[in-house]
Amino acid sequence: MLNRRHFLATATLAGLSAPAILRAEAGFFRDFPFSLGVAAGDPASDGFVIWTRLAPDPMAPHGGMPLVNIPVEWEVSPDSGFREIVAKGTELARPELGHSVHVEVAGLLPARPYYYRFTAGGERSLRGRARTLPVVGAEVDALKFGVCGCQHYESGFYGAYRHLAREDLAFVYHYGDFIYEYQQDYLFPDGLPVRPVRKYALRGLQDLGDFRTAYTQTLLDIDMQAARSVHAFVSSFDDHEIRNDWVSVYDDWKLDLDGNDPDAPPPEVFMLRKQAAMQAWYEHMPVRKALLPRGGMINAHRELRYGNLVSMQVLDTRQYRDNQPCGDGFKPACPEVYSKDAQVLGKAQEDWLAKNLGKGGATWNAIAQQVTMMALDRRRREDEPKKILNLDSWPGYEAPRERILSRFAGLKNCVVLTGDEHQNFCGDLVLKDKVVGAEFVGTSISSGGDGSDLRKGTDVFLKLNPELKFANDQRGYVVCDVNREAWQTHFMVVDKVTTPTNTLSKRATGVVENGVAGIRMA
Ligand SMILES: [Fe+2]
Repeated sequence: MLNRRHFLATATLAGLSAPAILRAEAGFFRDFPFSLGVAAGDPASDGFVIWTRLAPDPMAPHGGMPLVNIPVEWEVSPDSGFREIVAKGTELARPELGHSVHVEVAGLLPARPYYYRFTAGGERSLRGRARTLPVVGAEVDALKFGVCGCQHYESGFYGAYRHLAREDLAFVYHYGDFIYEYQQDYLFPDGLPVRPVRKYALRGLQDLGDFRTAYTQTLLDIDMQAARSVHAFVSSFDDHEIRNDWVSVYDDWKLDLDGNDPDAPPPEVFMLRKQAAMQAWYEHMPVRKALLPRGGMINAHRELRYGNLVSMQVLDTRQYRDNQPCGDGFKPACPEVYSKDAQVLGKAQEDWLAKNLGKGGATWNAIAQQVTMMALDRRRREDEPKKILNLDSWPGYEAPRERILSRFAGLKNCVVLTGDEHQNFCGDLVLKDKVVGAEFVGTSISSGGDGSDLRKGTDVFLKLNPELKFANDQRGYVVCDVNREAWQTHFMVVDKVTTPTNTLSKRATGVVENGVAGIRMA
């Protein structure tokens, strides 16, 4: 909330001519304006994005902010005490973008940590930390980074994020499902109803204000803030930022064959919701200004190169994808699965990927994306007659899946990082009986609740899928520990998410040796 008398006095001085810019002097904000914390993202060798959002009354409309531009000062230092300031400036927090601030800091030195902070109205934000990347192509021996996502607020607390914050990482890739678009009255962890551990404020999300509320509530979580304040995030979105299993094709939304939402809107109305959702995502993510939505679309695929060790292609598997075949869901394949025209990435993104993969000669060719690429048989009972596919993942689109695997076959050291499943697993990517790469699927921060070591039927699942090396149904995150000899992926799990704090352990490690396609468990 603002101090109204001070606001009016300052507003009068500023004249309130359009566009109004207030000088937010000391005492301007009645409450702490940096309530949603700070974040950094999209690191490069000379800088990164730093983010914050002014919200003195975070759950109120517009975060309790007046609808005027407010200047926010920022500074970057190599030391945690900010004795030396190496970059600083002022960025306008605009009401059109929820008073979010995205600063693309440049001119920094490569491969080292920096600290940053914001000031407005005499109030100072939490101190953030982020690392710059090594120079592209530079000789680099090691990289350690995190992978996480799927953080259904009602299913569990974010204790995993506090553990993630304590890891020594170069950056974190977030595969999406930062928010979920629905509220649940009950969860059924073992078939019996339990209450969600905490509730989303809104029953559903329709307009920009609703989506802002969901991000605001999520970011008020202090474990979430802890992780975002110490690691630069490379952020993606998946489906629940908008609606379960959405893809680019709107014509079929009226039919809603998957049956998840009988009230699904007609396509032209859904487009409006998507536009609001994309704007709110941008406003709350530490991403570059190139990702500002245009016409409701975000240009989210991008490349991250870590010296000469890793090149990582960050993909968008939602915005350009054809409708799920065979009516979506977990089902046996129908002929649509083999359609030659099917698209997952869309032609432009697929061409971009083809051009980038292997370019620059990094030791490891990584792909960071949302949905599983292994064509796994999802049966968990032996009496089910036919192979079952997850039609919302790559095996629902066999032609583009084979194109990408054929590309892997001509390269060395291809590693795919995936989310979406709310379980840990890893295995070999196989094309015509040849192992061409490795896939590590990370679990969820909270979605799915506490879970257990093995989901029911895991023995059948593993038996039916010889390429699968490991499966586990606990919550947590993944740490990739990469050097010239090997890529190690550690599956870090927590014992519970239904309690605010929990215990972390390393459940398993999958290893890919340099020059050997496929995974072995350490
Ligand atoms: Fe999810």
